[in-house]
Amino acid sequence: MCGIVGYVGQKECATMLLDGLRRLEYRGYDSAGLAVHDGKEVKVVRAVGKLANLATALAQTPLKGSTGIGHTRWATHGRPTEVNAHPHVAGSIALVHNGIIENHVALRRQIEERGQKVLSDTDTEIVAHLVNLHAKDGNDLETAVRLALREVHGTYAIAVISKDEPGKLVVSKTASPLVLGIGEDEMYAGSDVPALLPYTRKMIFLEDGEIATLTQKSFRITTLEGAPVERAPQHIDWSEMMAEKAGFKHFMLKEIHEQPRALEDTLRGRLDRENADVIAAEIGLANIDISKIDRIYLIACGTSHHSALAGRYYLEKLARIPTNVELASEFRNRDAVIGKGDLVVAVSQSGETLDTLMAVKEAKKRGATVLAIANVIGSAIPRISDGALYTHAGPEIGVASTKCFSTQLAALLLLSIYIGRRRNTLDPKRARELVEGLAKLPHQMKDVVAGTKQLVANVARRYGDARDVLFLGRGLSFPIALEGALKLKEISYVHAEGYAAGEMKHGPIALIDSAVPVVVIMPKDSNYDKTVGNLQEVKAREGRIIAIATEGDHEAEKLGDEAIMIPEVEEELTPFLTVLPLQLYAYYVADHKGTDVDQPRNLAKTVTVE
Ligand code: G6P
Repeated sequence: MCGIVGYVGQKECATMLLDGLRRLEYRGYDSAGLAVHDGKEVKVVRAVGKLANLATALAQTPLKGSTGIGHTRWATHGRPTEVNAHPHVAGSIALVHNGIIENHVALRRQIEERGQKVLSDTDTEIVAHLVNLHAKDGNDLETAVRLALREVHGTYAIAVISKDEPGKLVVSKTASPLVLGIGEDEMYAGSDVPALLPYTRKMIFLEDGEIATLTQKSFRITTLEGAPVERAPQHIDWSEMMAEKAGFKHFMLKEIHEQPRALEDTLRGRLDRENADVIAAEIGLANIDISKIDRIYLIACGTSHHSALAGRYYLEKLARIPTNVELASEFRNRDAVIGKGDLVVAVSQSGETLDTLMAVKEAKKRGATVLAIANVIGSAIPRISDGALYTHAGPEIGVASTKCFSTQLAALLLLSIYIGRRRNTLDPKRARELVEGLAKLPHQMKDVVAGTKQLVANVARRYGDARDVLFLGRGLSFPIALEGALKLKEISYVHAEGYAAGEMKHGPIALIDSAVPVVVIMPKDSNYDKTVGNLQEVKAREGRIIAIATEGDHEAEKLGDEAIMIPEVEEELTPFLTVLPLQLYAYYVADHKGTDVDQPRNLAKTVTVE
């Protein structure tokens, strides 16, 4: 997830571009750059790190001109270095991109065969070369972009300028967002509304597969096939704060809604649907010999620890490989028996959590192989690991993790399917069910969020004042119970406990009375009957039950004081859906109480102390 901006008009544009990037910095912040046409040439300035570094570089090397593009990067392909920073230049073309080009490896080969030198590790530079090659064949910029995009598979929002066509900006999008801003004698483009709000409130949202050509006085939208598109600008009356959160009240709520997209991005290019398999090189295993691994340690903290608990279930069930789950902070408090033949999978959104980092260092010292599952490219843990499987959730701003949790689940499931197929513990038929089920999930997640939101908000209002809340689940629903309780604790400061439903009788049952809501996560899975038994035990003690159950489960509707339904999916996929109402529940309780949802007291997004 990166941010892009573009300008064409009559003013000096570097300041506006930089300001637009500042408003998009929440979309990524590991490097940034501008390209500006000075009337003769396109000049580029790029810098690694936060935008402040780009501002310093621009103070030393000012860019003059009134046609330009800018980019703030959240690395997906290639580490955050200056050469990998955007804009990318090929011949007369400068281009910025947000998204992932899936067929970049094949295209890179073709481009190199045509004698072009590709300088960076990025998928984006390939698109710049393609546009340049088509421009060299005598096409104008818009046509060159159109032809290039026909060769590209993946997601993109791009903005392109050419040395040969000053005063022109061409943009296009598929899946990644792009907005046009219509000014007086000037035109803008940006990833999101917030980038453009101070400059114009007349905006057009570009749709997938459309190209827009902007000049100082005009804009023209066409489809990739060349058909004209008529779309009138809308007036946007959002405040700047609202716009940054895409109209949501909090980043957390925005990020809950972003999960389908985050999952899609994490799965993209990694599923081999034809062979019901997962592609090794795309999940960080290019340098790890799985056949030499006899045991796995999943090491993590907080929410990442909960996804690791689900990961153990996946790895043991599908790959039949003995798996331990470790709290990173405790791992080093024991003299763990670990070494050669062990694979440590370190799960960390930030890739910087000190406890996890230190545990990885310790495991490496003892000879284990390490795979990182991280969200921040180039962060410390993946840097010292033997391989990295990145979740492409984009920057997560809310301290309470949501979209990173579901993408971690996906990463762990991909890993388990891959290992299961290699070890022949997962038959192709079952693998196909899972792969196809995964591909359908983003859509189902979207429906669950949209379909349960109002009900969950009402339930949160009814039960929000409870002092204690218990979350129960069995099997894969146990980590979800832990995660539901953690979310509630983190942001609403309500005491909550996640418990394995079968353990309730050994302690928490003593807490239950009519003042304690009990959230029972009970999808129709192999543990269903036993979970219903536990639910009856709660009921017998007058506990109030909020059931998270499968559509059509009339028993759950009858037994629960409240029942929140999810569609029926493969057992392994239930956590992706059951966690959604729990995230929403925590959110609405906190919002109702008026706590600081995005920055709860005493917590930090990245914890770099032991
Ligand atoms: C902090 C965050 C949590 C996160 C945990 C682990 O406590 O507030 O949301 O789950 O750290 O962070 P990591 O970046 O390693 O996943």
